[in-house]
Order: sequence, then C-alpha cells, then structure tokens
Amino acid sequence: MKNSIFGVFYDEYERRLKIKILNSEIPHHIAVIMDGNRRYAGQLGKARSFGHAMGAEVTEKVIEWCYEIGVKQLTLYAFSTENFQRSEEEVDGLFNLINEKFLKIYSDPRTHEREMQVRVIGDRSKLPAFLNESIEKIEKATEKYRKFHLNVAIAYGGRQDIIQAVRDIASCISSRELSLEDVDENLISKHLYPATGVSVPNVDLVIRTGGDERVSNFLPWQANGSECAAYFCAPFWPEFRKIDLFRSIRVYQARKAEKKQEQSYRALRVVNFLGVRNYEEKTEEIGQLQSIKKQGIS
Ligand code: IPE
Ligand code: IPE
Ligand code: MG
Repeated sequence: MKNSIFGVFYDEYERRLKIKILNSEIPHHIAVIMDGNRRYAGQLGKARSFGHAMGAEVTEKVIEWCYEIGVKQLTLYAFSTENFQRSEEEVDGLFNLINEKFLKIYSDPRTHEREMQVRVIGDRSKLPAFLNESIEKIEKATEKYRKFHLNVAIAYGGRQDIIQAVRDIASCISSRELSLEDVDENLISKHLYPATGVSVPNVDLVIRTGGDERVSNFLPWQANGSECAAYFCAPFWPEFRKIDLFRSIRVYQARKAEKKQEQSYRALRVVNFLGVRNYEEKTEEIGQLQSIKKQGIS
C-alpha cells in the first residue's frame, strides 16, 4: 500500500519534472561518473559483482532516458586507469560485463533504428583481446550513425589522454607533418581519444552518483571551464532514477539561467556606468560653459 502510494507520487513528480525540463534547453552532452556499485551491494550483503550487474542495468536505462529527452552525446565512465588496481577477479568480471553489454547493444535493433554511434575512449592497449574485438565490432557497425552518440570511457584517465595527445602532436611536429603554429585548442581536441575522426565535444553537465564530490580524472579537457555544470548526488549508481536525471538537468538549466541573468546585470551595469559618466561629463561641460559665459559678461 505504502509503496504504491509512493509509486504514484513519484510517477506524478517525474511527469511534472519532465514537462519542466522539456520547456527549457536540454544539455547537448552529459557525462556520468557511475559510482557506488560496491557500496550498494555491500549494504544489501551481496557480492561486488551483484552491484556491478545492477549498475549495468541502470546504465542501459539511462541511455534510454537520455535518448528520449533529446540529449545528443552521453559519455559514461565505465572503468578508469586507476581501476586496474582492483583485484584480478573484479577487473575480469567488469570486462566480461562490459563486453556482454556491448554485444547486447550491437544486436539490439534500437541501436540501428535510432542511429546511435558507439565509441570507446581510453587506452585500448590495456584491454583484453576479446573486449577489443567487441569494441571494434560495435564501433564499425555504428560508425556512420549521427543521431545519438554514446561514448564509453574504459581504461580511461584524463591526464593520460592529454599525455598521449601531446606525444602524438609532438611526433607530428618532429616529422614536419604539423608546425608549431598549428597547435591550438581544436588540434588538441582532435588528438584526444578517440584519436580517429570526430572528437568528443565539450561537456555541458557532469553527474556523479554515490555521494563523493570528485571528478576522478574524468574529461579534464572537455569538462573544464565555466560552461560545464556539475551535479553530485547521494544515490549509489544502481539506485539512480529518472527523477535524479531530471533533477540534474534542472540544475544545468538553473545554472544557465543564472549565467544569463548575470550577463544582463553586467550589461546593465556597463550601460549605467556609461550613462553616469556621460552625465558627469555633461555637467562638467555645462559648468565650464556657464563660467565662460559669466567671464564673458563680467
Ligand atoms: C563504480 O562503482 C563502478 C566502477 C568504478 C567500475 P564502484 O565499483 O567504484 O563502487 P564503490 O564506489 O566502491 O561503491
Ligand atoms: C570513478 O569511480 C571511476 C568510475 C566510475 C569508473 P572510482 O570509485 O574508481 O573513483 P574514486 O577512485 O573513488 O574517485
Ligand atoms: Mg567508487
């Protein structure tokens, strides 16, 4: 009884939130640090692998929800370079799970109907052969799709990404393929993962679940600057609901509105300042004219 009342309440809340967010600008690119799988399993007295499996189910739903509301790019942090320090059993389990999900996405007709491009960012040389095979398979099958982009960060570290891009560019300069003058933001973006073709665009909103307010070496180049909003929330990843996603989008929209307001205040201040200065200049001019007049009279 209690559950069904809560269910009705949440459905209604979700419906209203959806209407609200769809009335305003939806972030083009959302990046998610999916954290808290093991703590979720721990609080239920279950094995870590259970937490990861439940987390992966939520990931599938989040892809759906993002597509549904018109997000164009979704980048998911699935496995960091630091995660290699976990036990062999856990790392193997995670790679198997990621592999399984890739194969599922590959054979899901919705991937092709919706024209979803899937790409992996990260150091592939650190991944097992079977996973690289599936990655190549899904990347190849979806390479022409442009309606929705799913970027999965595996064996990914933001600093390592920048290092490999710098090395790449340096070697192009030494072989005279590029000159020093060619190095600009655009060129650096192009050499970041995936170093082939179109780069991952700037991020508009970063979400992190699990209660920690860190960015853990995730997209330092693309999510930098004042343009990116951050949403840290308490639920563990397997508990993440549609309303959490909608709330994060409200935060993004509120940030945008604040910025717009700030900009118009600033513009108003400039206008006022110029207005006052003109006024002061005018009074001074008038004062001078009056004293000249007086001098002329006397
Ligand atoms: C996120 O959950 C999944 C990965 C990092 C692969 P964790 O495995 O970090 O779970 P917690 O944060 O320890 O609970
Ligand atoms: C962040 O989670 C990385 C991923 C979600 C893949 P971690 O649990 O690995 O992060 P830290 O080390 O606690 O920041
Ligand atoms: Mg964690």
